[in-house]
Amino acid sequence: MTFNQHLNTVPFVSVDHMMKLVLTVGIDTFLRELAEVIEEDFRRWETFDKTPRIAAHSPDGVIELMPTSDGTLYGFKYVNGHPKNTRQGRQTVTAFGVLSDVGNGYPMLLSEMTILTALRTAATSAVVARYLARKDARSMAIIGNGAQSEFQARAFKSIMGIDTLKLFDIDPAASAKCQRNLEGLGFSIEICDSAERAVEGVEIITTVTADKQCATILTDNMVGPGVHINAVGGDCPGKTELHRNILLRSDIFVEYPPQTRVEGEIQQLAKDHPVTELWQVMTGAADGRTSEGQITLFDSVGFATEDFSALRYVRSKLEATGLYEELDLLADPDEPRDLYGMLLRCEASLKSRAALAS
Ligand SMILES: NC(=O)c1ccc[n+]([C@@H]2O[C@H](COP(=O)([O-])OP(=O)(O)OC[C@H]3O[C@@H](n4cnc5c(N)ncnc54)[C@H](O)[C@@H]3O)[C@@H](O)[C@H]2O)c1
Repeated sequence: MTFNQHLNTVPFVSVDHMMKLVLTVGIDTFLRELAEVIEEDFRRWETFDKTPRIAAHSPDGVIELMPTSDGTLYGFKYVNGHPKNTRQGRQTVTAFGVLSDVGNGYPMLLSEMTILTALRTAATSAVVARYLARKDARSMAIIGNGAQSEFQARAFKSIMGIDTLKLFDIDPAASAKCQRNLEGLGFSIEICDSAERAVEGVEIITTVTADKQCATILTDNMVGPGVHINAVGGDCPGKTELHRNILLRSDIFVEYPPQTRVEGEIQQLAKDHPVTELWQVMTGAADGRTSEGQITLFDSVGFATEDFSALRYVRSKLEATGLYEELDLLADPDEPRDLYGMLLRCEASLKSRAALAS
């Protein structure tokens, strides 16, 4: 623990520090380096303790805990998903996370993860597309132009070379915002008036809408041969984006089947419908895209190892940038078993200060 030297403090990365960290590293470099760490961790999949995330569902949303460990480090993320939140000025998705030392159980990092989740989701999507999309892919439709959308666009540009975007959102103001935010980055951008228009002629389709229901953002006739679908928005029981017939025509790739079968697009299919795990593709144990005409589908729900990788990456940047503060989070009595005595000494010190002041 080079910089976490005090036994009572934990390095804390606030939203302000996260933004400065991302900008100091550079958004494209951050996405590329993060993608490498995510891929590196997928390649050592067997070393991780894995469990489907623990979800607490309510009528308007979900709160989830996402833990994992590689035996040396332990990480978890707290994340919510509440599609109606934006109407009250809140984010649909907000998150924070912790990375700890398995050897002594002490937290080594507490970080905001709302921005980090957008970055890690986009980096994961783009890494996966490198294995599954056609090598000559340059154009992408983005359906759903909310908080995640620009991050997806930037990751696909810096990792996959995507430079042509077709945008669609049921709220035209969201598409206008997305286009404005991506100006000057070398994209050719068209705002479309329907999802059908947006997917015409593109090699990659990203669906990243928020709606707490089984929606049909894409119907079967909208997906032609050779397309790669990056389905990000369907990530809860009863919350999907694709018509079932698309799934039946696609080769489906998932993060962790026990979680995706409950939360992903494949909740619409039989429990034993064949899927390929990403780690197998990344280690060469299974094929990614094998033909020009194949339809590939990344049924993304977001898995704990991706957040673990993101926390690990952020921590690796702290010492050089100093973009964190020390949070007084851990009790540190002079003698470890004298926790109560520490409270008494605090009381005595408060009393003597009060006596001095009177
Ligand atoms: N797979 C993952 O790892 C992962 C990670 C983060 C977020 N997500 C999911 O991605 C989705 C988007 O998240 P966000 O933070 O961008 O949400 P957001 O609320 O900021 O944006 C969602 C956008 O989708 C649009 N939309 C809703 N229904 C639509 C439809 N039928 N057609 C076109 N557009 C539609 C909304 O108008 C809005 O602009 C959420 O469902 C979230 O749960 C998944």
